[in-house]
Order: sequence, then C-alpha cells, then structure tokens
Amino acid sequence: MKRKIYSILLTGGLLLSTVVMLSLTSCNKTGPAGAAGRDGANGANGADGISPTEACKACHSPALVDKVAVEFGMSKHNWGTAAFEESGNNSCAPCHTQEGFRYVCDPANNVSTVWTNTGGVWTNPYAAVNDHDMGELGCGTCHSSLHTTYGISDLTVFTNTAPVPMTMWGGAKTIDLQQDGGKSNLCVKCHQPRPLQCNVSPTSGGRMLNYDSIRQFPTLIFYDSTTGVVNKYVKPSYRMHTHYGAVGAIYAGKGGIEFTGTLAYGNSTHTTVASCQDCHMAPMTGRAGGHSFQVRNAVEAALGSGTTWNFNGCNTAACHGDDPLSATHAKFVNKRAAIKTLLDNLATKINACGGGHDIMTRQTDPTLNLWAGITTNSYDGYLDIYSSSSNATGYWRDPYGSGSTNAAKPKFPKLTFGQMGAIMNFQLCLREYSLGVHNFSYSEALLTNSIAVLTAQGF
Ligand code: HEC
Ligand code: HEC
Ligand code: HEC
Ligand code: HEC
Ligand code: HEC
Repeated sequence: MKRKIYSILLTGGLLLSTVVMLSLTSCNKTGPAGAAGRDGANGANGADGISPTEACKACHSPALVDKVAVEFGMSKHNWGTAAFEESGNNSCAPCHTQEGFRYVCDPANNVSTVWTNTGGVWTNPYAAVNDHDMGELGCGTCHSSLHTTYGISDLTVFTNTAPVPMTMWGGAKTIDLQQDGGKSNLCVKCHQPRPLQCNVSPTSGGRMLNYDSIRQFPTLIFYDSTTGVVNKYVKPSYRMHTHYGAVGAIYAGKGGIEFTGTLAYGNSTHTTVASCQDCHMAPMTGRAGGHSFQVRNAVEAALGSGTTWNFNGCNTAACHGDDPLSATHAKFVNKRAAIKTLLDNLATKINACGGGHDIMTRQTDPTLNLWAGITTNSYDGYLDIYSSSSNATGYWRDPYGSGSTNAAKPKFPKLTFGQMGAIMNFQLCLREYSLGVHNFSYSEALLTNSIAVLTAQGF
C-alpha cells in the first residue's frame, strides 16, 4: 500500500517536470503549444518507511514500559500523598511535584540555592514558580525526554545528572556522585535536606542558620528560656528539624555538623562506588527492587517486624558476590547494630537536659513515624514541644506559643550550640533510614563526636 502511494507520487513528479520543461521551451513561439508528451517510465520503488507503531513498540511492550509501570505502582513516589498535598506550594514543589522538579532542574531557569537579602528580609530562592509547581511524581519526573524523538534513547535521558548544590547549605556545599553516569545526582536533587532559617523576630525573615558556628563554638548558648530574650537563632518548636532528605547528605558524607572529635570524617566505599540505583533498582524480589525503589520487601513496617530484604544489588560480582550478604550476615547485622547503639546513646544524652523527661518525641506507630523501630525508643526526630495543631499532647511549653494550655507547661530547657548540633546530627543519622548502610563511616563519626560534645558539657 505504502509503495503504491510512493510510486504514484514519483510519477506525478515526472509528469509535472515534463510540463514545466515544455512550457519553458515554448515561450518564444507564437503558435499554440503542442500536446503534452507521453508519460515517462515509472520510477524505482522507494525504500520502506518505518511503521510508526514499530518505534512505539520499542518501549510500549509488556516487557518494558508496561512492566515498569506496574512496578512503579509499588513505589511511594507513586502512592505517597505528598505530591498531591504540596502541589501549588512553590517552595515545596521542587522536590514534591513533577513540574516543580523539572523547573528547578532546567538550567535555562537558573534557579539558585544562594539566599538573597532584600530590605533585611532573607529569602531562599530554591523554589518553583506558579504554573510549574504541581503534578504527581511519574515517569516524566525522572525521564525528562519521553516522547521527544520517539526512539528508545528517550528513556536514558534523565532530568538531572549534574552536581547538586545543597539547598541546606545555601549552595556552599555541593554533592556530586559521579559513579554510574551521575544517576545518583538525580535522586539526591530531591533526597537532600532543607535549610534551617533563623528568626529576626518571632516571625521569620532571618538568615540561614550558620552551621559552621554551631560546629566551632559548641558551648555558646543557642536558646535560653530563663533570659526571656527572643532567640535570634532557630525557634525551638515541635518541628525544629532538617526536613527529611537526610539520605543524600549522609550518603555523600556532606552536611552534618562535623564537631571535632576522636573520629575523622571519612566515607564508606559506597559513597564513590555504588549508586542509588545499584541497591534501590536491583532486580526485583517480592515488591522490592526495580521501579519500586525499595530495598526492603515491606511498606512502612517497623524495622524489627521480620521483613525480607532484596540483596540482589549487593551480591553482584563487582561488590559483595564473593561473600554474599543476607539479613543474618555478620557484616549487615553488626554494622547496623553499632549505629543503632550510637543513636540510642546520643538520644539519652540529648534527652538528659530534660531532667527526667525526654525532650524528643517517641512514636511506635509506623504509619505515623517513618523511623519507627530504628531506635529502641522509636524517636522520630521531633521535639516534644506543645503545638495545638501538630503535637497536642506535647510536654514542653512552646516558647512562642500562647494560651493557657501552653502556659501551664514546663519551660523548655536551655540549649547550647553543641546540643543543637547534636540534635541535627541525630535527625540526619536517624532519618537516613538504613542504620549506616548508606555511609557507615560518616554516620559513626557524626554520632560518636556528638556524644563526646554532650559528655564534655556534663550530660
Ligand atoms: C522511549 C520510550 C517510549 C517510546 C519510544 C514511546 N513511548 Fe509512549 N510512553 C512512554 C512512557 C514511559 C509512557 C508513560 C507510561 C505510564 O505512565 O504508564 C508513555 C505513555 C504513552 C501514552 C499514554 C499517554 C501519556 O502520554 O502518558 C500514549 C498514548 C503513548 N505513550 C503513545 C506513544 C506512541 C503513539 C508512540 C510512538 C509514536 C510512543 N508512545 C513511543 C514511553 C515511550
Ligand atoms: C522529584 C523528586 C524525587 C526524585 C527525583 C527522587 N525521589 Fe524518591 N522520593 C521523593 C519523595 C517526595 C518521596 C516521598 C513521597 C511521599 O511521601 O509522598 C520519595 C520516596 C522515596 C522512597 C520511599 C521512602 C519511604 O519512606 O518509603 C525511596 C526508597 C526513594 N524515594 C528512592 C529514590 C531513588 C533511589 C531515587 C533516584 C532513582 C529517587 N528516590 C528520586 C522525591 C524524589
Ligand atoms: C529539598 C527537597 C524538599 C523540599 C524543598 C521539601 N521536601 Fe518534603 N520531603 C522531601 C523528601 C525527599 C521526602 C521523603 C523523605 C523520605 O521518605 O526519605 C519528604 C517528605 C515530606 C513529607 C512526609 C511524607 C510522608 O510520607 O510522611 C511531608 C509531609 C513533606 N515532605 C512536606 C513538605 C512541605 C510542606 C514542604 C514545603 C514547605 C516540603 N516538604 C519541601 C524533600 C523535600
Ligand atoms: C525516580 C526516578 C524515576 C521514575 C519516577 C521513573 N524512572 Fe524509569 N528509570 C529511572 C532510572 C534511574 C533508570 C535507570 C536504571 C539503571 O540504570 O539501573 C530507569 C530505567 C527505566 C527503564 C529501562 C530499564 C528497565 O528497568 O527496564 C524503563 C523502561 C523505565 N525506566 C521506564 C519508566 C516508566 C514507564 C516509568 C513510570 C511508570 C518510570 N520509568 C519512572 C528512574 C526513574
Ligand atoms: C549499598 C546499598 C544502598 C545504596 C547504594 C543506597 N541505599 Fe538507600 N537504603 C538502603 C537500605 C539497606 C535501606 C533501608 C531500607 C529499609 O529499612 O527498608 C535504604 C533506605 C533508603 C530510603 C528509605 C526507604 C524506605 O523504604 O523507608 C531512601 C529514601 C533511600 N534509601 C534513598 C537512597 C538514595 C537517594 C540513595 C543514593 C544517594 C541510596 N538510597 C543509596 C541501601 C542503599
């Protein structure tokens, strides 16, 4: 059918050129033009075109896109609700929505991580804009060129593989995981912590917290409820925390409060050799691996609840193949136990200032605490400060709160820079989820040296 159309077109083309030639040679004559000549011979058949559906089938087959789409249904990127909730919020959209992510990754938009100051008010420019701040996370969030050339190569173009300036550090530190074509930088662009903002007054508008001062001067006072002076650093509250993407910072060995101490800050082999994909997108077993992005065959189940793991990514010839890992292998068990003990010990030191009552909240319900079971007391990294909306049973008084319920609560204890840094390090090492699998050396050093700082302060 196609060939026939082609040859008709060719014949038509020959016919047309004959007419043009005839009319050109006849322009000086006075008499009427002669009759058109006979049709020329048919041209040769053209080569077969590509069937449009063949190009599509390279991807749209049961073994590829269809299969991956089913796996993706198991991923929290897909079933999590944060994308829906944060759509329309420009400052949350870069990590929580498809369009927001694509916007901040596009170099043409020049989205900076360096804070700006206008009339004494500081702003964090790492944000999306209206019209580019929504959308559930889907295939096009990471595969930025789908349906561009309609070739299979569209699959291997990722929205970001470039180095990632850390928003937590206002761009002063950059994460660059170059192994595996920089594909980990895709994940870290979202799985990185957010910055902490200081107060200029009880409202916001202050500069980013200077983490290096926290590190250098651990004995200075960060917050003191007895002086009655408004805190010029970060307001102690239920949610005084580094927002979630702890994995990226810990994995890269960047961003913790690196107090001087007995342990040097090094990285485990994973940091430069393994990529996020190696472990999180390994061949599937159960619901773990592939585009589920899970390493454990479970959803939000507490660590102690007897679940199975996917070690396919670990036990390759290039990595642990010679001494295959399992959930009972000494290396896996002992290293994770060591980090759990350090987290438990640091929690005790942090809570000691409460004079018998924890300053951090506990939550054993894994649907409410993503880190349930990681520490013995199931801390979630929040502070047990009263908040009528977020922590109605909170024990400590909100220093900036109002109302009689709040006023009846005991004053939140005084904090030093050292305690603040230790709280941040606890949050980072708890919320990297893996009990040190991501970067044992770095977690071990942050926790050990934080414990020493608090011990030196009498806790
Ligand atoms: C590089 C791989 C690739 C190629 C080639 C490709 N597609 Fe797709 N297509 C996808 C992916 C990935 C999705 C999203 C699947 C999902 O969300 O389940 C998709 C989705 C679709 C959808 C659903 C609507 C949408 O946009 O989400 C249609 C229709 C579609 N493709 C048609 C085509 C046609 C027609 C061709 C060939 C002309 C083609 N595709 C070629 C990868 C590809
Ligand atoms: C566009 C930002 C973005 C990118 C890119 C991204 N993630 Fe995520 N990821 C998220 C968000 C947001 C969540 C939580 C979703 C929710 O709760 O609704 C999440 C959840 C996850 C979870 C499940 C966590 C849990 O609590 O169960 C894993 C595992 C994960 N991501 C791994 C990865 C890996 C590996 C990559 C790179 C291949 C990656 N992510 C790329 C934003 C991103
Ligand atoms: C720099 C990236 C980034 C920004 C910006 C960001 N988040 Fe997140 N957020 C994440 C990541 C990554 C996770 C998933 C953490 C995980 O499971 O490892 C997350 C998780 C969450 C969750 C928990 C979802 C759950 O499953 O329990 C909520 C709620 C949330 N974010 C709200 C917000 C809000 C509100 C904003 C804006 C004020 C915001 N986020 C801005 C990266 C970000
Ligand atoms: C969070 C980022 C992310 C999302 C979302 C995502 N992908 Fe991928 N995808 C990747 C990465 C990274 C690779 C490369 C994996 C590797 O190199 O091991 C990949 C590889 C693939 C491949 C080829 C390798 C394979 O697994 O067979 C296909 C096909 C694919 N993706 C389809 C999809 C489809 C369809 C969707 C949506 C249903 C989707 N992807 C959503 C990150 C993502
Ligand atoms: C060496 C293997 C390995 C590598 C590489 C790795 N992870 Fe993990 N990751 C783990 C393990 C093990 C866990 C703990 C899983 C659990 O408890 O369910 C985990 C947990 C997570 C979680 C929480 C998942 C959940 O279901 O609660 C996220 C998010 C995550 N990793 C993101 C990343 C990102 C982003 C990278 C790359 C920067 C990365 N990981 C690299 C092994 C790895």
